[in-house]
Amino acid sequence: MKKLLLIAIATLTVAGCAQQYKPTLEEKVEATLSQLTLEEKVALTHAQSKFSSAGVPRLGIPELWHTDGPHGIRPEVLWDDWDQAGWTNDSCTAFPALINLAATWNRDMSALYGDCIGAEARYRKKDILLGPGVNICRTPLGGRTFEYMGEDPYLASALVVPYVKGVQQNGVAACVKHFAANNQEMRRTATNSIVDDRTMYEIYLPAFEAAVKEGGAWAIMGSYNLYNGQFNCHNYRLLQEILKGEWGFDGVVISDWGGCRNDDEPITNGLDIEMGTWTNGLRGAASNGYDEYHLANPYLQRLRDGRATQEDLDDKARRILRTIYRTSMSEEPHYGSFTSPEHFKAARDIAADGIVLLKNDGALPLAPANGSKVLLVGENAYKMMVVGGGSSNLKTKYEVIPLDALREAFDGKAEVLWARGYVGDTTTVYNKVVTGQDLKDSRSPEKLRQDAVEAAREADYVIYIGGLNKSSYQDNESTDRVDIALPYYQDELIEALAEVTPGLIVVNISGSPVAMPWASKVNAIVQAWYGGSESGHALADVLTGKVNPSGKLPFTMPIRVADGPLQSERQYPGIKEEGKEWWQEYYSEGVFVGYRWFDTKGIAVQYPFGHGLSYTSFEIADASVKRSGKGFKATCTVKNTGAVAGAEVVQLYIHDSEASVERPSKELKGFEKVYLEPGESRRIEFPINSRALSFFDAASHSWIAEPGEFHALIGTSSADIRADIPFEL
Ligand code: BGC
Repeated sequence: MKKLLLIAIATLTVAGCAQQYKPTLEEKVEATLSQLTLEEKVALTHAQSKFSSAGVPRLGIPELWHTDGPHGIRPEVLWDDWDQAGWTNDSCTAFPALINLAATWNRDMSALYGDCIGAEARYRKKDILLGPGVNICRTPLGGRTFEYMGEDPYLASALVVPYVKGVQQNGVAACVKHFAANNQEMRRTATNSIVDDRTMYEIYLPAFEAAVKEGGAWAIMGSYNLYNGQFNCHNYRLLQEILKGEWGFDGVVISDWGGCRNDDEPITNGLDIEMGTWTNGLRGAASNGYDEYHLANPYLQRLRDGRATQEDLDDKARRILRTIYRTSMSEEPHYGSFTSPEHFKAARDIAADGIVLLKNDGALPLAPANGSKVLLVGENAYKMMVVGGGSSNLKTKYEVIPLDALREAFDGKAEVLWARGYVGDTTTVYNKVVTGQDLKDSRSPEKLRQDAVEAAREADYVIYIGGLNKSSYQDNESTDRVDIALPYYQDELIEALAEVTPGLIVVNISGSPVAMPWASKVNAIVQAWYGGSESGHALADVLTGKVNPSGKLPFTMPIRVADGPLQSERQYPGIKEEGKEWWQEYYSEGVFVGYRWFDTKGIAVQYPFGHGLSYTSFEIADASVKRSGKGFKATCTVKNTGAVAGAEVVQLYIHDSEASVERPSKELKGFEKVYLEPGESRRIEFPINSRALSFFDAASHSWIAEPGEFHALIGTSSADIRADIPFEL
């Protein structure tokens, strides 16, 4: 029978033309589809193992191999288990967490990231990369903030596009997740997000829309939660009307693992491949129930007795075949590459590019005097962070910890010592991936603090390296945090260190916002992230000045959770209502998320969205707005006025002076990262199109830019606006 397919495609190859005729993708899909039996089509639509779905063996159509995740290629897992299979050739390059990428505000870095991870996936013979994740940071407590791209839809949109393109140029589908309004981990499979249209279109959909329309994403993953009363993996409004209808998405919709929840909706509502059912505790079967998946035998039965149509099945099969022809059967051969020096260099460069200097009274960059003692305090100076956190857990070829990187950086100059200071997470194994570290320590919190303070008294320089980790209720899938305060008595420890250390440097390693009540008592604060294999080197590069920091916060760092937009349980984490099966969560703050809330309400924050300092200084001058085509163009000159080379992220926000609806006081609508030598300046331009001036009007289902006065606000953070230019629409 394999011959049949080849003959069908070969016929297309020569049809009506003496020269070689190349069938289009659609012709190949149709030719193949016409060969498939009902059973073969149904077999395409659900998992056959934990991370693969069937092809058509009879015709030589390969299986689809899926892999996590957004930060590196997951180790090979057992056929029907989350645990790694114990292969010895699958230790990958761990790239920085996506929040670290978002903090670069650098489209080139995103393209580089996508290309490298796509190449790693291809080398490992994976067809679908389960990432990137672009859910908006609605609450600072969200457990997966570290896997996403921050709180702003424009920033997330700008960065997801090059990532997707980079992945897909390797013949690997990027599966953008988790669609949509999936903004918390707490009760993630039982919460109904109730969101109005304006909020969806302005805040929660744009990054997905950009991934599809500009990035050309080949796959989308439905999320676990419900949206307006229906589970998202088979949500008619999201998948059929918006994604496949309005945006013209022609790729596959894949369920999150266990996110497909009934027999009938998936058939008609736009789910194409059901993955992971019964593997996350939603339903009972212990293992290997693939034939009993909703889109397996129950689907076949419905097709046979006329309760499901051939048309719906063909639509799914077409999309799946299209994905196979785009990836493993792509005409352009792709072989990929794995753990190459270039990939590790990219990981280091991206990690460093996203490190954010929050505060600096002169302690950084650190150039220790010869023969001096540098003391590192804190578990995160030592703990390996690639392992853990949920599905983004990786087995990497190596991971450089900050302690080793700083020893390397100061070799021959200063002695680098370490005091643990606190015991946080001592686990070193996740899904059978082991770090090999021994993190046991029986000292009490008081004793650990005392030892660290004593060591600090003896040291010439003290760098605190703490923060969060990837254990439960921290930066971790399936749980949210309970507060933004640092855990493990770290606030007390930092305060105690600040008392005995004049120039204390604090490095917070986390994937989400933390409170910093001690900020005024320390000399410098660095926000670093889970930087992957090269995280220690990247941090050392920034602390020593080898790299001039240029990262910017992709979310607001609030003072207290209670200051934020989620003021009631109805908003977060949701409430139980009589007669309703699922937790109801009302997004009644509307579009006022992150800085849109804090700025508009005038609420003070610890550090604003877009904030990040440099070892040099920049000046923004000659800003203006002019008409350009159908829209406008804002321009300004940015100059490096300091003594070292560095990069500034110039940000454009739009303010609408008067509108018929309540609008945020400013919204990000453009940014450029500009690298400048000392004294160098550059003219930059931001196009302002009609969408940049618009709000989404639910009644007319359209974007509306109301005539009147607007302001272009050009600055270096959402709070540091250097030029305010009014203009008339
Ligand atoms: C996560 C997804 C992940 C999938 C497969 C789910 O639990 O939510 O992000 O891709 O598992 O590991």
